[in-house]
Amino acid sequence: MSDQTHDLDARKERDRIRGTAESTAPVILSVRDVSVEYKTPYGWMKAVNNSTMDIRRGEAVALIGESGSGKSTLGFALLRMLVRAARVSTGEAIFTDKNGTTYDLFRMTDKEFRTFRWDKMAMTFQAAQNVLNPVMRISNTFHETARSHGWNDKAAVKAKTLDLFKKVQLDPNRVFDAYPFELSGGMRQRVSIALSLLLDPELLILDEPTTALDIITQRAIIDVIKSLREQLDFTMIFVSHDLSLAAELADRVATMYAGEIVEYGPVRDVFYRPEHPYTVGLLNAVPPIVGEEFTPLVAIPGATPNLLNIPSGCPFHPRCPFATDICSTVNPPLVDVGGTHFVSCHNRDKVTRDQEVWEEMEATVGA
Ligand SMILES: Nc1ncnc2c1ncn2[C@@H]1O[C@H](COP(=O)(O)OP(=O)(O)O)[C@@H](O)[C@H]1O
Ligand SMILES: [Mg+2]
Repeated sequence: MSDQTHDLDARKERDRIRGTAESTAPVILSVRDVSVEYKTPYGWMKAVNNSTMDIRRGEAVALIGESGSGKSTLGFALLRMLVRAARVSTGEAIFTDKNGTTYDLFRMTDKEFRTFRWDKMAMTFQAAQNVLNPVMRISNTFHETARSHGWNDKAAVKAKTLDLFKKVQLDPNRVFDAYPFELSGGMRQRVSIALSLLLDPELLILDEPTTALDIITQRAIIDVIKSLREQLDFTMIFVSHDLSLAAELADRVATMYAGEIVEYGPVRDVFYRPEHPYTVGLLNAVPPIVGEEFTPLVAIPGATPNLLNIPSGCPFHPRCPFATDICSTVNPPLVDVGGTHFVSCHNRDKVTRDQEVWEEMEATVGA
């Protein structure tokens, strides 16, 4: 057997285990019917709409969807870092830590939440490399974050920081006393990942951690995230519009459309046997990420909806090749279609990746 064949077999085996094995670990975060709205001059705009999902301890969950589908808003809401002009209008999010203590994220007091944030659950932001305070040395940012959580042992904070710098492959001596502007974008992104891990959070949300970086730096950051996952024990929500990254990093995938989670399940189910037409559309619009066969790319017809005026029924119906009458009036619930694969679609039995169906649709709706 050639090495290449062997590698492929090993990869297939790993994929098989990773994507299909059902985690029976306890649920760390239960998101139930969460909606988030932004105040606009035209009224409240729903950016997240009745989103529901359970995340199990140790899993990596990818949130995918086109730009504007509500991925970042959901992340900000969970960490209570929404801008002032936003509100969580429905739902709850319950976090259960490793001792079994539960935290009702939207009902904790601000004071309780300040202790909880970064300690139990942390986030690195889209373009996080620009988030570091420009007039503070990196070392100060780490000491300040520790201090605000009652950790005042500066020697211990420094030791922990230097260890994290090694884990994210930064040269500790060069970085610890530097100012952010002295570092490259990729280095700043590593710093912010290290910062998010300073207090050993049990759940880490990474919002497009590579989007603002060049392709080589992107690859390096992905490798860092993978190696951190092997060395440290945290659950991860990974926000991305890049499906191949999702396939590479995640155990589970949630597809968001117009603020709703429309499909959720193990990577293998969602990418090999997608049942929601929007997931199929996303898969058709990128080069193949699973399987060897090359299929031509087809764009999803139509445009993302105006969130001030979300279509009635299923929000995807105006763009959907499989829509029937019911789709414009009744929004289908997210139902379990087997194992832990959930789909919200009236016509999921008819959904196909057949390119002709999509091309015809593109011709009628598109352009
Ligand atoms: N601070 C904000 N104020 C008003 N609207 C916002 C704000 N942030 C995001 N939005 C709107 O909310 C919707 C969802 O955005 P976002 O959560 O950033 O989506 P994604 O991360 O999937 O690209 C978009 O229509 C966006 O314009
Ligand atoms: Mg975003």
